[in-house]
Amino acid sequence: MNLARFPRIRLGHMPTPLEPMENLSRHLAGPNGGPKLWIKRDDCTGLSTGGNKTRKLEFLMAEALAQGADTVITQGATQSNHARQTAAAAAKLGLACHILLEDRTGYTDPAYTDSGNVLLDRLHGATIDRRPGGADMQAEMEKLAAELKTQGRKPYVIPGGGSNAVGALGYVNAALELVAQAAEIGLRIDHVVHATGSAGTQAGLVTGLTALNSGIPVLGIGVRAPKEQQEKNVLALAEKVATHLGLPGIVKPEHVVANCDYVGQGYGIPTEGMVAAVKLLAEKEGILLDPVYSGKGMAGLIDLVRKGHFGKDENVVFIHTGGSVGLFGYPEAFN
Ligand SMILES: Cc1ncc(COP(=O)(O)O)c(C=O)c1O
Repeated sequence: MNLARFPRIRLGHMPTPLEPMENLSRHLAGPNGGPKLWIKRDDCTGLSTGGNKTRKLEFLMAEALAQGADTVITQGATQSNHARQTAAAAAKLGLACHILLEDRTGYTDPAYTDSGNVLLDRLHGATIDRRPGGADMQAEMEKLAAELKTQGRKPYVIPGGGSNAVGALGYVNAALELVAQAAEIGLRIDHVVHATGSAGTQAGLVTGLTALNSGIPVLGIGVRAPKEQQEKNVLALAEKVATHLGLPGIVKPEHVVANCDYVGQGYGIPTEGMVAAVKLLAEKEGILLDPVYSGKGMAGLIDLVRKGHFGKDENVVFIHTGGSVGLFGYPEAFN
């Protein structure tokens, strides 16, 4: 596997740190001990406060430039971290950026509608348009692209979450990085856990870890779709990523596992477990999670540790996919 074959523009600070969470591990350990918890700091990728989309955008933006684009279009929920990082990448590369924000939660609190990620979208100079919840956002982007073309622009459309075979290469790269880091410090990784949404992060990780024959299982903690749908989405994308890499057929259904028990009432709606997880990480490790993704992902990890899902001698790596800017969109959840 040779990722250097694919066009890539450096946008992030990598490798991101891989650190032990000693306080959290101790806090969650039972009388007979517990798994050792690690964190890979993809919240520290650097671009506009960082996050997982930076890795995907390195490959997506390279393709946009190769195609001669002068404008990028993308979409996400109101507090989309993907939209914010796309706006930042576009600013850095001198491209115009149009963002379509879908109102998935119905929240009207100005903190939610205009602070956090939305504030930063604007600071990066993006043009923002809103759409109601349930709109066909891909179709809306195509419509906007067609309009911009009639004005002589050259738009490049990035799917929600940057999750296609090109964007997911960023997480194939993360898999290579993680395995190399672990080898360097002599760490045997027994599990990787992270929040999964539009599927690109998990699809890239699973494809990369499988291609390396690492034997490391990945558990995606869902934030929106039910388990069966989420696993189907991840597998379908992982198959495309593997084909794009020239390794068709390497990812099997048993490589794709999601646990969607921590979604709560729906996408972007706070849960008690998320609030507790965000507070615990802030208090025990000085680490900020986010309310929509990494907070629910960590709520899942904590609950699974408490239920004895992991062996007490196992090493579990949580991939912190970023998003803490979103905390400012949800002040009431934490007060
Ligand atoms: C902070 C954060 N974590 C996790 C995810 C989920 O990643 P993916 O959409 O690749 O499944 C996202 C996606 O928007 C995110 O913003």
